[in-house]
Amino acid sequence: MRGWPTAVRLRYTRWVELMTWGDGDDGEALLPEALQTSRRRQRLAGIYDAGDWYDVDYAGYLGELHFYRRVCDIVAGTEGTIVEIGAGTGRLTVPLAKGGRRVYAVEPAAGMRQQLNRKLALHRLDVVIEDALAHTFVGPSSPASLVMFPFNGILHLHGRPMLDASLVHIRERLAPDGCVAIDLTGPYWETMRRGRIPWGRVDERVHPVTGKIYQTCDRSAYDAASRTVRIDIRYAPADSEELVQTALFQHMWTTTEVLAAVEGAGFVLEDTFGDVDLSPFHEGSPRLLLVARVNRSR
Ligand SMILES: C[S@@+](CC[C@H](N)C(=O)[O-])C[C@H]1O[C@@H](n2cnc3c(N)ncnc32)[C@H](O)[C@@H]1O
Repeated sequence: MRGWPTAVRLRYTRWVELMTWGDGDDGEALLPEALQTSRRRQRLAGIYDAGDWYDVDYAGYLGELHFYRRVCDIVAGTEGTIVEIGAGTGRLTVPLAKGGRRVYAVEPAAGMRQQLNRKLALHRLDVVIEDALAHTFVGPSSPASLVMFPFNGILHLHGRPMLDASLVHIRERLAPDGCVAIDLTGPYWETMRRGRIPWGRVDERVHPVTGKIYQTCDRSAYDAASRTVRIDIRYAPADSEELVQTALFQHMWTTTEVLAAVEGAGFVLEDTFGDVDLSPFHEGSPRLLLVARVNRSR
C-alpha cells in the first residue's frame, strides 16, 4: 500500500483534499511489474503539470472537433473572435486556428501552455494565450463572438458558486449576441456507486510522437462530500526506470445541473447534442454538447 500525503496544492485551482484508500486493497500487487512502485522510481504530477503525458493519452482523440468547427463557423465565422477556456495543449486550438479562425486561448496550467506554445510556433499560428481561469480571464480587446469550454473543462469548476461565477463571467466577456459552447461527459456512476475502483485497465500503447511503447493503468475514487472523483493514471515507458503517476480531480456535475446553471447565468439554449455524432440529447446520453446564446431580455 502506497503512503498518501493528506493534501496537495493544485496551483491553478485550490487546495483539494486527497481521498485516502483506507485499508482496502488498491490492486497494486496485481499490476505488471513495470507499473508497480516497488519496482520503479515514481514521479508524481498533477495531470496538467505533465502536458506531454496529457498529449500521449488525448492528442490523438478529436471527437468533438466537428462540433466546435461547426459552432465556430456558424457563430463567429472568420471575423469573430473565439475564446477557448482551458485550451490545454491545443488539441482543438491548433486545428481551429489552422482553419483560419481567430482563436484566443485561456489556460491556467504552465505545463499545458508550454506544449501549446510549442505547437503554435511549429505551425506558425498567431494565438494569444492568457494565464487565467474561467472566472478571471480578461479576454481579447473586443468582446468575443464565442466562448468555448471543451472536453470536460467544466468539471474543474468545483461547487455551484464557482460554476455560476464562471458562467456569468463568460457571459460578460461575450458580445451581446454571443454564444457559449460546452461539452462534458455524464457523471462516472460506476466509480460513484463503488466509492473506489482499484488499479486496472492495464493497457499497452505506442507513444504517438516518439513511437516508444509504454504501459498504463488507472484507478479512481469518489468523495461524496465534495462530489469529486479523483483519477490516478500511471505511465511506464518500456525504456525507463521511472514511472509517472498523474492525478486528476473532477466535480461530478449532472447534465441537468449544467443545463440549469447555463440558463441561470443568463443564456438561452440553442442546441443540445448527446454525443460527438451530434445525435439528439436525452437523459441517457453519454455526453452533453451544448450551445447557448446570451439572453438579451435579461
Ligand atoms: C480536460 S483539459 C481540456 C484541454 C483542451 N481544451 C482539450 O480539449 O484537450 C481541461 C483544461 O482546463 C484547464 N483548467 C482547469 N481548471 C480551470 C479553470 N478553473 N478555468 C479554466 N481552465 C481550467 C486545465 O488546466 C486543462 O488544460
